[in-house]
Amino acid sequence: MALKFPIFMDAQSTTPCDPRVVEAMLPYFTEKFGHPASRNHPFGWEAEGAVDAARQKLARLIGARDPKELVFTSGGTEAINLALKGAAEMYREKGNHIVTTVIEQRAGLDTCKRLERQGFEVTYLPVGPGGLVDVDEVRKAITNKTILVSVMFANNEIGTLQDIAGLGRLAKEKGVIFHTDATQAVGKVPVNVEALGVDLLSCTAHLMYGPKGVGALYVRRKGPRVRLAPMIDGGGHERGMRSGTLPVPLIVGFGRAAEICEEIMPEESARLATLRDRLQDLILSSVDEAFLNGDPERRLPQNLNISFAYVEGESVLMGLNRETALSSGSACTSATLEPSYVIAALGASTELAHSSIRFSLHRFNTEEEVEVVAKRTIEVVKRLRDMSPLYELAKEGVDLKSIQWKAE
Ligand SMILES: Cc1ncc(COP(=O)(O)O)c(C=O)c1O
Repeated sequence: MALKFPIFMDAQSTTPCDPRVVEAMLPYFTEKFGHPASRNHPFGWEAEGAVDAARQKLARLIGARDPKELVFTSGGTEAINLALKGAAEMYREKGNHIVTTVIEQRAGLDTCKRLERQGFEVTYLPVGPGGLVDVDEVRKAITNKTILVSVMFANNEIGTLQDIAGLGRLAKEKGVIFHTDATQAVGKVPVNVEALGVDLLSCTAHLMYGPKGVGALYVRRKGPRVRLAPMIDGGGHERGMRSGTLPVPLIVGFGRAAEICEEIMPEESARLATLRDRLQDLILSSVDEAFLNGDPERRLPQNLNISFAYVEGESVLMGLNRETALSSGSACTSATLEPSYVIAALGASTELAHSSIRFSLHRFNTEEEVEVVAKRTIEVVKRLRDMSPLYELAKEGVDLKSIQWKAE
């Protein structure tokens, strides 16, 4: 098949919607348009049945005991807000301390910042050079005022997978609630809230080949029963935790996306890991001073993050963007020129944090696309370095740190 440009390898910003998902959604925009809370006619029953079926599919994918443990939201951001703010408000009498990490996505970090302004205390734990948070550090951070631990499942930039089972055990032992932002993990790697001891889990459809505008929060109902103060008041939908008319077509799509992910996950993750490894080998074997970011083993199969010394990540992206869609960080911060706070948290220099590129593969990428993206990336990095006086000096053996740049 002829290659189609631009090639999309930015699937950790969003995934393309699977055509099977679109097909499942379509009737719910047209003939099956009922309101799921209309209890007194067949249009409502049909919509309610469709929402229930989707809820069951998602519950199965994440190993929830009861589909009622899922609350539909507008996406991952809202699910994370509800988890953190909802738990903070509900358990305020018990304590005012939250433990999280410095590499959470902005939805988690900004929500914590707001809670700090409201009198909560938040500990932001550092991560190791591979992006892993040490469970013992979390243990040390927990005090008798701690109500919640929130650690992301898989990082959106470097793909690092945290020790969720270890954190779940610790949370149980200490009697604190454990939330994980699993928006990048659900549908990509096995997730089982029961086996992992997760109490609250956020996820989103648009990162698992579903539509944008719908997400979910898993809220444990048994052992312990977690209660949340709602953030949106209204008709009492979603068992009072999130009012508002449910977007039935989007929820149907979310359910279908979950079903497909569950069905093909072992085969798909193996295929994407092979493609990712090929991309990594091609690039690292032909570009010097290119560094892999994140843990090389404990990471999402579709993620590859590399820093190219002496070139700006943004320049690489500009050199490639007519034919390849990549990212220099998360979609929400790539509008600013700040270096990646995630890469900086790994202990990298500001220069290397500025030079990171994220390649994230998806279900429809091919081997041919991987070859082309690798080839073009290598060309662009080499061309930029040819124009870089810094690279030239470094190649001549000059220690760049020893140079006094300031004019007298
Ligand atoms: C780790 C992580 N958390 C949360 C979100 C926000 O999810 P949404 O875009 O559905 O609001 C994203 C989005 O990319 C993400 O990568």
